[in-house]
Amino acid sequence: MDKFIIDGGRRLYGTIRAESAKNSVLPLLAASVLTEEQVTIREVPAITDVLCMVQILRELGAKVTFRGEDVIIDSADACCHEISSALTKELRSSVFMLGSLLTRFRRAVIAYPGGCDIGLRPIDLHLSALKRLGVKIEERDGFIYCKCDVLRGAEIALDFPSVGATENILLAAVKAEGRTVLHGAAKEPEIVDLQNFLNGMGANIRGAGTDVIVIEGVKRLGGVTFLPIKDRIEAGSYLIACAVCGGETEVEGVCGENIRLLLHKLRENGCKIHTKNDKIRIESSGRLKSNRRIETMPFPGFPTDLQAQATALNSGAEGGALIIENLFETRYKYVPELRKMGADIEVNGRNAFVRGVSRLHGATVAAGDLRGGAALVIAALGAEGTSEVLDLSHIDRGYADLQGKLTSLGAKIKRVRI
Ligand code: EPZ
Repeated sequence: MDKFIIDGGRRLYGTIRAESAKNSVLPLLAASVLTEEQVTIREVPAITDVLCMVQILRELGAKVTFRGEDVIIDSADACCHEISSALTKELRSSVFMLGSLLTRFRRAVIAYPGGCDIGLRPIDLHLSALKRLGVKIEERDGFIYCKCDVLRGAEIALDFPSVGATENILLAAVKAEGRTVLHGAAKEPEIVDLQNFLNGMGANIRGAGTDVIVIEGVKRLGGVTFLPIKDRIEAGSYLIACAVCGGETEVEGVCGENIRLLLHKLRENGCKIHTKNDKIRIESSGRLKSNRRIETMPFPGFPTDLQAQATALNSGAEGGALIIENLFETRYKYVPELRKMGADIEVNGRNAFVRGVSRLHGATVAAGDLRGGAALVIAALGAEGTSEVLDLSHIDRGYADLQGKLTSLGAKIKRVRI
């Protein structure tokens, strides 16, 4: 088990390059089993969620090798359609293996997926969509048994623009007989990336990025070499860190459009933001005004994956902020840890009322989930004195070399084994 020791109060200066997006690479890895030809995904981030998904592919019989930052998947010999509960409990993203396995094998068995402890995270939208495509589903003893003779295109309407359900539908419809029209699709940039990846394999999909996606089933899919989009949530996390600490930082690889609402909120805090192509530069005095209101919404709204980090920012800003978390029921588990640093936050259901204090102080805190852990690191960077952040395994799921990147910006952060 490792921990971070962080000496707060240092301004951040410099440039960092965002990694390929975790929430794009994971569905791309799932999609790689749709073909028996070789698939190469470029510049994959060194994060544990990726390693876990690679482990799942290997368990199915695929050969997965790393060449530098690239990952090469050869699933010609993949023959298993069942994923162990240990791995699916570890990773929420295992759920979109259903679509891939059904397309490849017409069969799929997975345990109910795990993931961050941020809410119930049901998969009813996934399962009802798969049934529309002709899949027979049985849920028994914590496992989901899926099978179908043939996948047939259908009209599908999602009650909620679920990212994972949208991805699962693309993976299950891509080689189905006939046309699938998906209404109410999620519009995240990572969905567009998946469409581009699949079309690079020979699929015929259009409309990703809008709420109507049309998938014309094709007979075969070939190999592809693909460079995923960069991680807008990682980039946003570093921009928020610089806003809190003060200084001037540039994040490369992500276009401002993909985190437009965050940039709008950072300007509200008093930061100067400059965007040019795929570069975002932030200048901050470190003395911030609070955001009166932040409400998380599906893309292009304010990302739920930046809610915890924005709450940490507002904890040390002047004034008060109302944070409304609309996507997940219990995405405030990091708040008691922020309170140990002097934050004044009252949580009531999906709302958090933040009263800014002049400065947070160092404390020993523990990460409980991926983005909550990032929020604690950000709070520690801006706090007075030294903090320790424990349970880094949560942070390692989605941030590659967080300590090295922050150190390159001038932060005083050490990673030690305990
Ligand atoms: C994806 O999760 C991301 N994960 C999450 O990022 C992100 O927070 C989320 O989308 C929303 O943007 C990956 O892409 C691997 P959803 P996903 O289905 O697909 C409800 C991170 O920190 N819902 O859009 O699980 C669900 O309960 C992670 O990187 C149903 O009710 O999110 C939630 O309230 C955390 N039934 C809402 O929809 C369903 O069948 C959003 O879920 C599916 C979802």
